[in-house]
Amino acid sequence: MARLDPHSYFDDAQPRTSAWNLRLRANFDLKVLSGEATLIFGGPSVGVFDLDTKGLSVRCVRASGTDIPFELGPEEPILGRRLRLTLPPATTSVTIVYETSPSAAGLQWLSPEQTAGKRLPFLFSQCQAIHARSVLPCQDSAAARVTYEAEVDVPQGLTAVMSAGAMGDAPAAAGRRKFRFRMPQPIPSYLFALAVGELEGRDLSPRSRVWAEPVVVDAAATEFDGVEAMVLAAEALFGPYDWERFDLLVLPPSFPYGGMENPRMIFLTPTLLAGDRSLVDVIAHELAHSWTGNLVTNATAEHFWLNEGFTIWAERRILSALHGDAAAALSWESGRADLEEALARFQDTPALTCLRTRLDGIDPDDAFSAVPYEKGARFVVALERAVGTKSFAEFVKAYMKRFRFQSITTEIFCGFVEAEFPGLLAKVDAPAWLERPGLPAAAPKFASSKLEELSALASGWKDGKRPDAALAGRWSPAELLVYLRRIPRALSREDCARLDGALSLNDRGNYEVLTQWLSIAAASGYEPAFPRIKTLLASVGRMKYVRSLYQALGRTPAGRRLARETFAAAAPAYHALTRRAAESAMAAYPREMAE
Ligand code: BES
Ligand code: ZN
Repeated sequence: MARLDPHSYFDDAQPRTSAWNLRLRANFDLKVLSGEATLIFGGPSVGVFDLDTKGLSVRCVRASGTDIPFELGPEEPILGRRLRLTLPPATTSVTIVYETSPSAAGLQWLSPEQTAGKRLPFLFSQCQAIHARSVLPCQDSAAARVTYEAEVDVPQGLTAVMSAGAMGDAPAAAGRRKFRFRMPQPIPSYLFALAVGELEGRDLSPRSRVWAEPVVVDAAATEFDGVEAMVLAAEALFGPYDWERFDLLVLPPSFPYGGMENPRMIFLTPTLLAGDRSLVDVIAHELAHSWTGNLVTNATAEHFWLNEGFTIWAERRILSALHGDAAAALSWESGRADLEEALARFQDTPALTCLRTRLDGIDPDDAFSAVPYEKGARFVVALERAVGTKSFAEFVKAYMKRFRFQSITTEIFCGFVEAEFPGLLAKVDAPAWLERPGLPAAAPKFASSKLEELSALASGWKDGKRPDAALAGRWSPAELLVYLRRIPRALSREDCARLDGALSLNDRGNYEVLTQWLSIAAASGYEPAFPRIKTLLASVGRMKYVRSLYQALGRTPAGRRLARETFAAAAPAYHALTRRAAESAMAAYPREMAE
């Protein structure tokens, strides 16, 4: 038995697929993708071959033109169903004819009303961590890589885009349009991505285009016009950009993440459109994954910190290069607050605060937190500070060269560090970072004069210090955010009114600032902000915001009432992941006395 991934039926000892050939048809009436997936083997193969599926209906399986038997195992709550095939001798490919379920976790089908333009329906995928198996039968482990070709058949008037190279149209039936794609670089299944909707593109540079619904696309093109400068800064730090195009797709508001690093086309929440380019750090993050994550990939979710910790570190290196160390210090500070929240949330499951996790029987979506991100990035900085910026930069380049297009474990990473810098792991006490919960006491700190000023002001809150409107008016959104995160949580009604009045918080276009303020207001039971909370929760599906607002509303009876009422109305439009996040926040509410 050679299963190395607790979240996949993928077995290293079995035949390996090297490529997929997909023909998919989007049926918006049934909310179903149907068609065939041809899985191509690296060479002639034979014997038992297991695939991951979740919610898929398999019609038939063919090898060399003839039907072969298939066996779908029992439904496991996290893994889904194993699809077991027995390959006849010298099989070079198998074709699986199948369709997805309307409730596939990796897909969201939106009605026209749920889009920005409100005219046409929309479909998008989100496969990380283990939802690709609800979209197609595959070896759904980051340890396995494939190239692919795809043909996507959609209703006329809609445009299909993928995290792959566009290869033009193929002939289609009346009233339909067929798009062709090719992904020549080998990717893990979680980076497979598709979106279909009313989409338009605007070029940002010779290698970048932003795609969005027509009513959003111009605002998106302005917000993200600095993208080429970012790619150049990243190339200077990490070496040439290897994926040819760097396109951006702005999704409808229900997209559950801030961004997703789908190769060649990152997927983004429309909440990044602040109007003042103040949230483009998310672009830096997804861009950085082109090196840390997409080139060098965590082999399984137990090594997720290799993807995200390195990427947070890389994102802030890009930020420093473009805007200076003081700007990056603000990000490190916001990240510190995120990390503290996560450590508190996992108090009863401290094993999840190790970087190297053991996730047998644990859903990676439930293990998700700021820990692999912020603790992981601090571990990277600990290594960097111990050897110096210059040698670490060389190390990172060598690391990416050595493991490009491979999927690696923490242990492989440590082996490489030890070979490059003997004694370094012991020097930074790597086991404390990797194998022990919490944040090591010697964790790197980040300072700037602005940070000191903001935290002094915030910690003076309890002694009556309040921000002055003129002074706070000169703060950047990132500075304001640091201040808001530092002031005490439940505030009096007067203080809420004063904060909002002095800083016009309800009207902010920067969603980080807006949701930070609304979660203070929610935790304080400040009812004048309730209508804004309600409209936000009814219109935005980014999990991070939805979760923290539902959590904050739990602090007062009036908040809990608002939460329940809002959830009842908004839940049908939420992405499955977002719905689950809101439900679990509400499940932690205290029981109401008089209900
Ligand atoms: N790869 C993640 C998003 C993700 C992680 C999706 C795990 C599914 C499972 C992406 O790169 C990410 O980290 N997004 C952040 C951006 C932030 C850290 C700048 C987000 O969405 O908030
Ligand atoms: Zn990331």
